[in-house]
Amino acid sequence: MRLDANIRKTGLIGHPVSHSKSPEMINAAYQKQGLPYIYLAYDVAPEDLKQAVEGMRALGFRGWNVTVPHKVTVMDHLDEVEESARLIGAVNTVMVEEGRLIGINTDGAGYLRSLVTETGIDPAEQQVVLIGAGGAARAVGYALARAGVQRITVVNRTETRAQELAARLKTWTETEGVGLDQAGEKLQGASLLVQTTSVGMYPDTEACPVDPTFLHEGLLVSDLIYHPRDTRLMREARTRGARVHGGLGMLLHQGALAYRRWTGQEAPTETMREILEEALK
Ligand code: ATR
Repeated sequence: MRLDANIRKTGLIGHPVSHSKSPEMINAAYQKQGLPYIYLAYDVAPEDLKQAVEGMRALGFRGWNVTVPHKVTVMDHLDEVEESARLIGAVNTVMVEEGRLIGINTDGAGYLRSLVTETGIDPAEQQVVLIGAGGAARAVGYALARAGVQRITVVNRTETRAQELAARLKTWTETEGVGLDQAGEKLQGASLLVQTTSVGMYPDTEACPVDPTFLHEGLLVSDLIYHPRDTRLMREARTRGARVHGGLGMLLHQGALAYRRWTGQEAPTETMREILEEALK
C-alpha cells in the first residue's frame, strides 16, 4: 500500500483516544488486504466537534469511528442516521456517501457476531440478564432483542434507568427492568448474563458487578470488558462451571463491520484478532 495522494482517509474521533487499539487493528487489516486506505486517531474536544466533522467532510474522508464522548452529540452534525443507530441512540461509525454523512451503529451487531461465532449459542433460546443500562447496554440490548431472545431482564444500580431501557426494548421481546438487589433472583432462571458496566475494568480488577454466588453452571457469562481479558466475574463464573465470553470479540467485530461499510470488503478478522491480542497483552 502506497501513502500517495489517492489514499482513502478513515479514522477515529474521541476524547481521549490515545488508548485506542483501533488504528493498529484497522491499519493492519488494510495492509493485509492491500487496500489504499489509512486510519488515524484524532483527539477532538467536545467544543470542537462540529468543526472537526465539517473538516473531515471537506477533506474527503471515506468514514470514521466515533467514541466517547461524541457518540450521541455527533448525530446533530450528520445528514442521516440509520435506524439501528437511531434506536440505540448513539453513532459509532460514520460513512460518507456522495458527500452525505451517514451515522451507523456497529456496536450491537458486532457484539452479536462475536457472541454467536465464539460461543455457538442460538440467541432465540436465551433468557437474558443484562447488567447495566448505559450506552453499551443499549447497543447490546437492542441487538439481542432484535435477534429474538426470549426475554431480557435489565438489572442496574439505578433502577429507573433499568426500567427505561427495558421499555425501549419491549417492541421486540419480553422485558423488565429491576435494581441490583434482584440480581440473584433474576439470574436463577437465566441462560445468558451480559455484563456491560465498567465494574471489573482495569485498574479495579477485583471488583465484581454481582455476587459470585449467584452464578451457576447453566449460565453463559458474557463480559464486555476486554482489559483485563479475563475479569473477576469471568473467573468466578468458570469456577462454578459456567461458560464465559470476553469483550475482545465485540471490539474486533464492531471494527470489522465498520471496515466492511467503508471498503466493501469482508474484513480479515483473524489478522485483526492477532493484533488486538498482542496489543492487549
Ligand atoms: P457506557 O456507555 O459505557 O455503558 P454509561 O452510559 O456511563 O457508560 O453507563 C454505565 C453503566 O454502568 C450504568 O449502567 C451504571 O449504572 P447507573 O445507571 O446506576 O449509573 C453502571 N455502573 C457504573 N459504575 C458502577 C458501579 N460502581 N456499580 C454498579 N453499576 C455501575
